[in-house]
Amino acid sequence: MGKLEGKSSVVTGAASGIGRATALLFAGEGANVVVADWDEAQGNGVAGSIKECGRNATFAKVDVSNPEDVKRMIDTAVQTYGRLDVLFNNAGVEGEQVPTADCTLENWDRVISINLKGVFLGMKHGIAAMLKTGSGAIVNNASVAGVVGFQNIPAYCASKGGIIQLTKGAALEYARQGIRANAICPGVIATPMVERFTSAGEEVRVALESLEPVGRFGTAEEVAKLALFLASDDSSFCTGAPFLVDGGFVAA
Ligand SMILES: NC(=O)c1ccc[n+]([C@@H]2O[C@H](COP(=O)([O-])OP(=O)(O)OC[C@H]3O[C@@H](n4cnc5c(N)ncnc54)[C@H](O)[C@@H]3O)[C@@H](O)[C@H]2O)c1
Repeated sequence: MGKLEGKSSVVTGAASGIGRATALLFAGEGANVVVADWDEAQGNGVAGSIKECGRNATFAKVDVSNPEDVKRMIDTAVQTYGRLDVLFNNAGVEGEQVPTADCTLENWDRVISINLKGVFLGMKHGIAAMLKTGSGAIVNNASVAGVVGFQNIPAYCASKGGIIQLTKGAALEYARQGIRANAICPGVIATPMVERFTSAGEEVRVALESLEPVGRFGTAEEVAKLALFLASDDSSFCTGAPFLVDGGFVAA
């Protein structure tokens, strides 16, 4: 029996990287998965891979910064799988790499809209669905950039710090109504996002890798395992907390 057997789940940003690995792991553990992303081709590909393994998945095209899209995404889970048990708010973008004084309002608004408003909208509609059954587990993908300072990504850092606080508040609000909410804080994980970060050259990749005390980037699968723990009953006494999965990054 899987750790999420028969549960109804939504994973945003599920077309790539951490979201993709988590959608596949949730399905492998018995969950029905709404694969949510704005990338239709890759999202359908992930849903297809899950179905090929004999599990249930539905692709939902969503821009997580759009309130109507997010409501529709949650409705898709409830209508297709009868309820919502697990929500992984994972979709995010890195934005432009510039110091604070050079960060344009456009870049600021875009990153905050997707990363922070997107998680808020997911929680707003996801919690409403979970309250109907009196149970649910929410996992929000923050970052070590929400815990320690990083240069040249001001909107990203602010959005990730905001996610941790948003998570704590909601966890307190719904702690006695069967809903848990936790945040995860990955270190540097080998995904297309980090490939974009390091596209400037091999020396940038090596410099970033050297920031990881374990001497390597993490994998999307290593992050997915923490998301699974927090989504499952294994973490029944965990709520309102940020969990590091960072190869020692924050300890350094
Ligand atoms: N890779 C890392 O080192 C790292 C570290 C800490 C936190 N994170 C966080 O993990 C999450 C996933 O990142 P990843 O590394 O897997 O990146 P990724 O670029 O591989 O995947 C991000 C996914 O989100 C989707 N997405 C982006 N904006 C969206 C929107 N508005 N609506 C719907 N879908 C959207 C993309 O299409 C993509 O499929 C992000 O929130 C990121 O900030 C990543």
